[in-house]
Amino acid sequence: MDNFVFQSPTKIIFGRGAEKHVGEEVKLLGKKVLLHYGGGSIKKFGLYDRVVKSLNDAGVDFIELGGVKPNPRLSLVREGIDLCRKNNVDCILAVGGGSVIDSSKAIAIGTIYDGDVWDFYSGKSSVERSLPVGVVLTIPAAGSEASNSSVITNEDGWYKRGLNTDVIRAKFAIMNPELTFTLPPYQTICGAADIIAHVMERYFTNTKDVDFTDRLCEATLKTIIDNVPIVLKNPEDYGARAQIMWASTIAHNGLLNSGRVGDWASHGIEHELSAIYDVAHGAGLAVVFPAWMKYVYKHDVDRFVQFAVRVWNVDMDFEHPECTALEGIRRLEEFFSRIGLPVTLKELGVPDDRLEEMADKATNNDSKTMGNFVKLNREDVLNIYKLAR
Ligand code: NZQ
Ligand code: ZN
Repeated sequence: MDNFVFQSPTKIIFGRGAEKHVGEEVKLLGKKVLLHYGGGSIKKFGLYDRVVKSLNDAGVDFIELGGVKPNPRLSLVREGIDLCRKNNVDCILAVGGGSVIDSSKAIAIGTIYDGDVWDFYSGKSSVERSLPVGVVLTIPAAGSEASNSSVITNEDGWYKRGLNTDVIRAKFAIMNPELTFTLPPYQTICGAADIIAHVMERYFTNTKDVDFTDRLCEATLKTIIDNVPIVLKNPEDYGARAQIMWASTIAHNGLLNSGRVGDWASHGIEHELSAIYDVAHGAGLAVVFPAWMKYVYKHDVDRFVQFAVRVWNVDMDFEHPECTALEGIRRLEEFFSRIGLPVTLKELGVPDDRLEEMADKATNNDSKTMGNFVKLNREDVLNIYKLAR
């Protein structure tokens, strides 16, 4: 196990009715807040009114900006920054999913930065300060409510780029599983794929002596595998929604990679897909991850065998461990298909005529490798896209 520093400072307020506390929590962060949200689901299902009431009851002054799209755009971030500067906003409240939270984080760092906020995402500048961000989470998926990341798409060239720094972690996250009852099945399953991917990015590691975090990863995966079919049948099953919601935060708040190095190639390979084709991130991962696994499993067959046996209950074939490893990958794919996710680019609706371009973008024209478990060059990335066709 590697040395590590684990810091997960986000205060989690979890359970039925938790959003009632949003006003008092925001009041601890500042006097004037930007209420930031997406395409309208929070208004449709009454959450907006409850949040506004709580802010008013707590005497918090607020302005608002809606319209965040999935795969959040730089142009709206810039609009939010202008708004915050003009109105002397001193904190941001994200009400929504990963897209709203990531857009909020970008506005929070951009408002108090002299240059252009894209500098942080292009690697030109590093973040030193942020306005405080609070969250009311409506979809378990990206894990942004407690992660150190923000992912933004620049429409100029359709570059989707992430930023990782502890400075942008949310101060609080309000998580009421009841808020997820209204999720369309497709968003539920895309969220599930993203959660599974966040765990697998950490699971496939070269770091030795990590059995404790292996076991935490396996428990998190099994929780998603067991509970997603339950909520697809009964969207208002509070118990199952609660399991998924808490697992999604744990999957991406840093605990599961304490003392180990994760891979992250599949996320980078997927981001090129959702940047160009605007597909849901989770759906893209359901396509990319199994292809990545088939491409790299020989690097450490034992680890893939452990994944197959412990997570998917595959019987160990001692004479042919590779068969056991491949059966684990097959069961993952079969699970994705069974719950309704695409597992090929074709099923995702992505044509195969821009694979070279995506491989170029992902590797910066073959000038950098992707991933840690196996380092992938441009040709490897292209081969993975081809395997996913
Ligand atoms: O926009 P509205 O109308 O609110 O509808 C949203 C949106 O269309 C809808 N939705 C959310 N909660 C709902 C709901 N509909 C009904 N009832 C509810 N309770 O769901 C749709 C998707 O929302 P979005 O925020 O895009 O989903 P998600 O949480 O999956 O976020 C995806 C974004 O997060 C990034 C992804 O790349 C993508 O851009 N990621 C961020 C990470 C991070 N910051 O740590 C890590 C991830 O790996 C990921 O890259
Ligand atoms: Zn993800």
